[in-house]
Amino acid sequence: MTDKLQFFRRIDGALHAESTPLADVAREYGTPAYVYSSASFAGRFQYIYDAFAKLVPGRESLIAYSVKACSNLTILRLLAERGSAFDVVSGGELLRVARAGGDPSRIIFAGVGKRDDELELAIDAGVLQINVESRGELDRLQTIARLRGARARVALRVNPEVDADTHKHLKTGAAASKFGMSKSDAAAILGQNKQYTNIEFAGLHVHVGSMLSACDPYANAIESVRELISVFPGPIQTFDFGGGFAIDRASAPGLDPRVLAEKLAPSLIKIGARPILEPGRWIAAPSGVIITKVVDRKQSGGRTIVIVDAAMNDLIRPALYDAVHPMEKIKINNSGSRAAETVDVAGPVCESGDFLGRNVQLDICEPGDLIAILDAGAYGFSMASNYNSRPRPAEILVSGAHARVIRRRETFDDLLRGE
Ligand code: LLP
Repeated sequence: MTDKLQFFRRIDGALHAESTPLADVAREYGTPAYVYSSASFAGRFQYIYDAFAKLVPGRESLIAYSVKACSNLTILRLLAERGSAFDVVSGGELLRVARAGGDPSRIIFAGVGKRDDELELAIDAGVLQINVESRGELDRLQTIARLRGARARVALRVNPEVDADTHKHLKTGAAASKFGMSKSDAAAILGQNKQYTNIEFAGLHVHVGSMLSACDPYANAIESVRELISVFPGPIQTFDFGGGFAIDRASAPGLDPRVLAEKLAPSLIKIGARPILEPGRWIAAPSGVIITKVVDRKQSGGRTIVIVDAAMNDLIRPALYDAVHPMEKIKINNSGSRAAETVDVAGPVCESGDFLGRNVQLDICEPGDLIAILDAGAYGFSMASNYNSRPRPAEILVSGAHARVIRRRETFDDLLRGE
C-alpha cells in the first residue's frame, strides 16, 4: 500500500534519500546526522489527509501533526504549508509552531500537567482547543480565562480504559494511566457545565497509545465514550481520537490510515462532530534516518560488536523501548555475493544499554564504513540529549538531488552555553 511512500532506496548499490546519495551527505555534513526526505513528509501527510479529511460530510477532519515526533522548524513549516494543523504538548512546542508560521487557530494543546503560564499562552495565542486532563486543570483554566476576560475552548480528555497491544511505555489509555480523566469525572463536569462560565465545551479527546497496529482499540475507545456524547451540553463540535498509528516493521505490518478511516467512518459520521487526529510517528518515522560511521569493531563473549559514532543520546528508542530499527550499510558491494554477518551495533556512550541494535544482519562493516539506521525520523532527534557531553547531530533535509542543513550540528560552545 505505501510502497510509493518509500523515499530511502538503493540505486546501484548505494542507499539514497530521494535522489541524493547518503554517502555524499555524510561526506559533506559529517556523521552522525539525521537525514530527512521532504517528499516523504509531504507524501505521508497527504496520504493521511486523503484518507480522513472528507470522512464526515461538511466537517473537514483536522489532521494535527503531533509535534513531539519531530519538531524541527523547517519540517513544521513544510507541513503547515500543506495544510497541517498541530498537536502540541508544551508552551515550547506551541511557540515552535508559531515560529514556523503555523496557524494558532489550528493548534490542539494537549498534555498532562500544563502549567498556568502554558495555559495563559494557549489562551492568548487563540488555539483551537485545549485538551483538559483533569477537573483540577479545568478549574485552573476557568480562573485564568476569567481573569483574562476570555473564553477557552476545551475538549475533555477521557481515559477510555482500553488496553492496547503495545510496549508498556507507549500505552496511555489503560486504567490507572496518568493520562486523561475517568468517564464518571467527565460526566460530572459536563453536568455542571454552567458553572464554568469562561469555558466553551467543544468536544472530547481519547488517545489509547502509540504504535498501534489494529483498528479495534480506536473503535473501542470511541464506543467507550459514546454515552458522554449523549450527555454533551449542546452539539459536540470536535471529536479527537488521537494518534498512534503503527508504521510497517519487518516483524509486522503497520496501520494503514485508509483502513482505519474506513473502519471508523460509521461511528464518526454518527457522532457528527469534526474529527481531529494527531498522527506523529506515521508521518515522521519512515521520513528520516540517522547516518553513522563505524568507529571500531571487536569480539566480546563470542559476539561481534560494531561500534558506531551515533549513540543512545542521539537515538534513545532501542535503549528505552527495546525498539528495533532496521539498519543498512550505505554502500554495498553490488557485484557478486554480499558478505553479511550478525552483529550487535553499539554507540560510544558509557552505558551498557547503549546499543542501537542487537542481532542485526548487516553487510560486513569495517571502521570508516557508513551505516543508515532507518525509521528514525520520529522520536529520534526530538528525544536526543547531550549525555556524555556529546553535541547533538545535524539535521539535513533532502529534496530530490538537493540536501541542506535544517539544524546545524551542535558545537562544544553550544554545550557550555548557560553554564
Ligand atoms: N496524541 C497524544 C495525546 C499522544 O500522547 C501522542 C504520543 C500522539 C498523539 C502521537 O502519537 P504517534 O502518532 O506519534 O504514535 N517516544 C515514544 C512515543 C511516545 C508517544 C507519546 N504520545 C517512541 O519513541 O516510541
